Amino acid sequence: MTSTSTTPTTPAPDGFLWGAATAAHQVEGNNVNSSHWVDEHSPGTHVAEPSGDACDSYHRYPEDIALLAGAGLGAYRFSLEWARIEPERDTVSAAQLAHYRRMIDTCRRHGVEPVVTLHHFTFPRWFGRSGGWYAPDAVDRFRRFAETASTILDDVTWVVTINEPNMMVNQSEARIDTENGVNFPGPSPHVARVIAQAHHAAMEVLGRRGHVQAGWTVANQVFQAVPGWEQQRDEWQYWREDYFLEQARDDDFVGVQSYLRTIIGPTDDELGYGPQPWPEGTERTLTGWEYYPQALGHALRHTREVTGGVPMLVTENGMATRDDSRRIDYTTGALQAMAAAMADGCDVRGYLHWSLLDNYEWGSFDPTFGLIAVDRTTFARTPKPSLAWLGGLAKSNLLPLAG
Ligand code: BGC
Repeated sequence: MTSTSTTPTTPAPDGFLWGAATAAHQVEGNNVNSSHWVDEHSPGTHVAEPSGDACDSYHRYPEDIALLAGAGLGAYRFSLEWARIEPERDTVSAAQLAHYRRMIDTCRRHGVEPVVTLHHFTFPRWFGRSGGWYAPDAVDRFRRFAETASTILDDVTWVVTINEPNMMVNQSEARIDTENGVNFPGPSPHVARVIAQAHHAAMEVLGRRGHVQAGWTVANQVFQAVPGWEQQRDEWQYWREDYFLEQARDDDFVGVQSYLRTIIGPTDDELGYGPQPWPEGTERTLTGWEYYPQALGHALRHTREVTGGVPMLVTENGMATRDDSRRIDYTTGALQAMAAAMADGCDVRGYLHWSLLDNYEWGSFDPTFGLIAVDRTTFARTPKPSLAWLGGLAKSNLLPLAG
């Protein structure tokens, strides 16, 4: 064990990935062929604010990657936008594929490991019109997209097939199934199975390339039970998380994405149990979530338990706040919890902070998760102290330990 002036530290394993993450729709801007763009501009939309130019990272990604690398971080997780690559069914844009290939090359030039996500929540308008994950050929369409995308992944090691399938099932796609009334409210096992098939199809495509380490990322919600409500907690958790972790058992890795915990106990509604409100006085982040950095440790342990020990990569963790010193505190707590889980045998290959940039948080620019601030008009980037702080840990490859 080594120690800096304030916090005791321990070395991370050799080759540990230190980095930050974004997603195409949240940073690129003008993703006009995506179904989310349609939602943002539909009459009576539930989306408060459209994504518009977002952070203009479609053009400014070289600056973003240079800032990440300059701070000392060694990995950048970003996503490919299906709606750009295949703007109409069976119409593939070679120019857009070349764009994403340039992003990979830019990472390489800076000595940054690209972690490429094929699908991060959004899909093309035509896929949405055909029923999204409810379309009879949904799995085949995603398999084809994975095949197309894999043509630019020759030297890419880390690939995420689908981001947070459990959130997609819970929030967006389940909404479509009003006619069949499948599992409302709550997640749809039907859609969960379809997305799992799409994931396995993409894994097969990527597996054929030999060198790729592939997996999907799961939103780990750290479900805790009010004493006596363990069985209900387990039921609540299955289609919201554990099913998706089970699907990762044969994968090369599983992405752990942790922000919060959810306490399950009695409720007044028909079901009679569900998430409990946070007690008065609980510190909340700008997304309204409890400030609970220890969640990452629980998430890693639970993921290990359900997957049976598949290697883990923390693909997202962070806090929406205007107070950057609070972000550093949160991340310190999360890394301490991660270090403790690793000391207990959790096989963690890297930590990618959410997010590199203040970005479009699915309806609003207000919840600022970024290590870098982005001016909404000029798109000027201003690194926050947390960027240099995290980069410092990366350069020394040291994890903070609880004091
Ligand atoms: C998603 C990100 C999102 C973040 C914070 C995750 O659910 O993958 O797209 O911005 O959490 O809400």
